[in-house]
Amino acid sequence: MTLDISGLPADFCWGAATSSYQIEGAADEDGRTPSIWDTFAATPGRVANGDDGAIAIDHYHRWRDDLDLMTELGLNAYRFSVAWPRVQPDGAGTGNAPGIAFYDRLVDGLLERGITPWATLYHWDLPEALEQAGGWPQRETAERFADYTAIIAEAVGDRLKHWITLNEPWCAAFLGYASGLHAPGRTDPAEAVAASHHLMLGHGLAVQRLREIVPDAQVGVTVNLYPITPVDDSGRHDDAVRRIDGIMNRWFLDPMLKGSYPKDVLADLAPITDAGFIRDGDTATIAQPLDFLGVNYYTRHVVGAGLWPGTAAVRFQLDNGLPRTATGWDIDPSGLVDVLSQVQRDYPPIPVYLTENGAAFDDEVVDGTVHDADRIDFIQSHLASLVMMRERGMDVRGYFAWSLWDNFEWAEGYDKRFGIVHVDYETQVRTPKDSARWYADLIGTHRAGI
Ligand code: NOJ
Repeated sequence: MTLDISGLPADFCWGAATSSYQIEGAADEDGRTPSIWDTFAATPGRVANGDDGAIAIDHYHRWRDDLDLMTELGLNAYRFSVAWPRVQPDGAGTGNAPGIAFYDRLVDGLLERGITPWATLYHWDLPEALEQAGGWPQRETAERFADYTAIIAEAVGDRLKHWITLNEPWCAAFLGYASGLHAPGRTDPAEAVAASHHLMLGHGLAVQRLREIVPDAQVGVTVNLYPITPVDDSGRHDDAVRRIDGIMNRWFLDPMLKGSYPKDVLADLAPITDAGFIRDGDTATIAQPLDFLGVNYYTRHVVGAGLWPGTAAVRFQLDNGLPRTATGWDIDPSGLVDVLSQVQRDYPPIPVYLTENGAAFDDEVVDGTVHDADRIDFIQSHLASLVMMRERGMDVRGYFAWSLWDNFEWAEGYDKRFGIVHVDYETQVRTPKDSARWYADLIGTHRAGI
């Protein structure tokens, strides 16, 4: 396919994204305490091959070279996340100077190279001490999150202006506390719903603190959105679509962008929780005005009425005849158009950044590089969807490839490689894949106005 990006504005944000636990390593250095992911990964059977993020890609020590590589690729933005247990060990009290210093160096290093730093405050590494105190199902955790936000904002907010409070709160709440596939591995649906509320409450409180401390900050939140489609047009599956769209998309978008929870989803949840944790004033706190919405898009879900035990009669159709990535996810760039159209149609206008998009493939190093044509196709086709949304009047301002490097893919360990840059985990050698070269060319072409 040929991709025409001439319609993208000259200041379009060309970035790549990562997160702290997935790349940093140095798990017990400079005062960092364990996060829920350290504990989870240390529990046998939780992560493929018993992998963990103790070393990861050793970015904590190699950050300087890593930033040089970003310059080489021509990125103008880099989205990373801040490790809460590095900045505020145990999730309470004053900041940890050596941990904060790492982000200080990183921000300065990026700015020196002309790369705009984008920080995510919570990309799933909750301090283990806070989990011991009850974790996200406890309201207190939201308040602790706002305090931690203030510490890092005071430290780097004079230079760091792009802030994302949460990454994918659906995953943090429901994979962490309902299915137990992610840390902390609990399996109580009522607690998961409480966790989702407290994550969003934490988001609202954190936005308030950021506005006070960094008045010129650009603040947003990143959600993982999925277009939900019925298995057929018979109408029999419309309720399944409504339910899944409700809990995966609207449960998060509605309170944060419109100031109220969707009533139908509250009704769906009634058998498992009375939602007594939602207190007066909470939805107003959650609905802080935002400067942008971050969207992570990977795939579409096709659902239907079914008889899976315990799943409220909803079933996911896993084989849709589309090509898939190594994680088994359908490759469906039209889903990005669908999901952004939903945001455009149902919510007040807001600038949008695609804060993650990418794919794992079974990459092989051949002749010192990786010929990942399928990843190039993936990125190209999804960028075409973004271009289409701009043509349809949506204020889409940037694209962040997930991920810059291969890294620790959560419960999948190191098996699934999402990077545009290959990492040899034995030697820590970084090798740009063909996709990285292609992306660099694309950025260069766009910047040159060609
Ligand atoms: C979304 C998450 O934010 C990121 O951490 C993860 O690695 C990618 N999806 C791929 O699964």
